[in-house]
Amino acid sequence: MKNPFKINKNIKLKKIAVPVTVLLLTGSLTAFSYNTELTTSTYVKSPDFLEKKKDSVASVKAFEKVYSVLMSPRCMNCHPIGDIPLQGEDSHIHTMQPKRGKDGKGLYAMKCANCHQPENTPGLHAPPGNPNWHLPPADMKMVFEGKTANQLAKQLIDPNQNGHKDMKKLIEHADDGLVLAGWKPAEGLKLPPISHKEFKKAWITWLETGAYAPKQ
Ligand code: HEC
Ligand code: HEC
Repeated sequence: MKNPFKINKNIKLKKIAVPVTVLLLTGSLTAFSYNTELTTSTYVKSPDFLEKKKDSVASVKAFEKVYSVLMSPRCMNCHPIGDIPLQGEDSHIHTMQPKRGKDGKGLYAMKCANCHQPENTPGLHAPPGNPNWHLPPADMKMVFEGKTANQLAKQLIDPNQNGHKDMKKLIEHADDGLVLAGWKPAEGLKLPPISHKEFKKAWITWLETGAYAPKQ
């Protein structure tokens, strides 16, 4: 499938109006083939996206910052290759080995929420907390561990790998509860390398300038 974000940048309002009208007038078969245009047309409602221009240099530079956060233990520990979360600054396998389970919330008696409370539990080596603490689901693992910047950038914007997020949803995800949890680590754990504000800025810049993937 074509990358909807790249197409988005070239689309002018007039060009959108045509396929949308055609769509309204014709049957569902046509609707299917015009799917991409429809998706992108929803972005046009936000003038912000039209103001920004494609800029591969700025985009790749912003992604470097984004990548440094994604690969930090506070994020990567919940985005592992395997089906067991990681722990600590060295991202070792979670003690007691809770398993992902179908919905990412743990298996049998080892549900994440049994130990991970809505708030951080005070004390060293106590579980960090969040009302929604869990891994991505088994059918969409959203793995960060072991990915190069090039691989991860492509994965993040692929709706079949990112939880069916479009541009708007991706931008909103910068303020997701579990993303914010990265900046509220349990006692004794480090913060991600840059502030949440800087991360959000870099994330949005990366997406809006074309979501380019670094060469490697
Ligand atoms: C407690 C575990 C947990 C932590 C910690 C966590 N995430 Fe996630 N992350 C998830 C889950 C679960 C999903 C899937 C939910 C969804 O897509 O809405 C997800 C989805 C994502 C996505 C969307 C998927 C994609 O590939 O586009 C991004 C981006 C993301 N996380 C970034 C981060 C960043 C950045 C941090 C650290 C600052 C972080 N996450 C920390 C569990 C976590
Ligand atoms: C039996 C209790 C228990 C269960 C069940 C459990 N955890 Fe944990 N978890 C902990 C404790 C305790 C820590 C802190 C360990 C430490 O710092 O030494 C922790 C730490 C973590 C960390 C590391 C956080 C960081 O910033 O490094 C992640 C990620 C994590 N758990 C995810 C999960 C997920 C996802 C599940 C469910 C699939 C889960 N845990 C199930 C007790 C549990």
